[in-house]
Amino acid sequence: MQRPLKIEIGFGNGIFLIEAAKKEPETDFIGIEIYRTGIKKLQRKIETEDAKNIRIIYGDAKEIIPQLPQKVSEFFINFPDPWPKKRHRKRRLIKPNMVDFLHNSLESGGKVTLATDFADYAGEMLLYFEAHGGFVNLAGRMQFLNQIEGRTPTKYEKKYLVQGIRIYYLQFEAL
Ligand SMILES: C[S@@+](CC[C@H](N)C(=O)[O-])C[C@H]1O[C@@H](n2cnc3c(N)ncnc32)[C@H](O)[C@@H]1O
Repeated sequence: MQRPLKIEIGFGNGIFLIEAAKKEPETDFIGIEIYRTGIKKLQRKIETEDAKNIRIIYGDAKEIIPQLPQKVSEFFINFPDPWPKKRHRKRRLIKPNMVDFLHNSLESGGKVTLATDFADYAGEMLLYFEAHGGFVNLAGRMQFLNQIEGRTPTKYEKKYLVQGIRIYYLQFEAL
């Protein structure tokens, strides 16, 4: 039987992925990242921790997600670049077409978990997932989660938690 597959998009320094992979040795993990320094850091951690269940894909998730050969049980998208300037918003990762790619790659009952400190982006992501029609919002319709039990904070998340900055968590289940 195929092992479950979980994917983190934009893993940064990779700490979240390493901890998730340690907690679930029977699950395969893939990290997708376009930042070479992050990839090198995660490669070193994989060697130090002897984490045999993590693979790395270097490249743009917008091109990689539509080509995934296996169904995915969970996507993690932690603090995607917010592109705060209005004229740059079109560069954001989460757009209706990405929501559709994620849905097509998920197994039924699979999840997408997202986190951001950026209220405007949180609201935009919420609207796109709610509008898709193929997801249930696990926080309740048009709601955010305030926390996710048992979660290892990412590098950005640790920084914001220390500063008391609000983090918006979003979690959707594919129908
Ligand atoms: C703000 S950082 C957050 C890093 C990490 N998730 C964290 O929470 O500490 C966003 C990360 O997403 C990566 N990224 C941005 N766009 C991407 C894309 N299209 N495909 C893959 N990675 C991407 C960036 O290189 C960067 O490492």
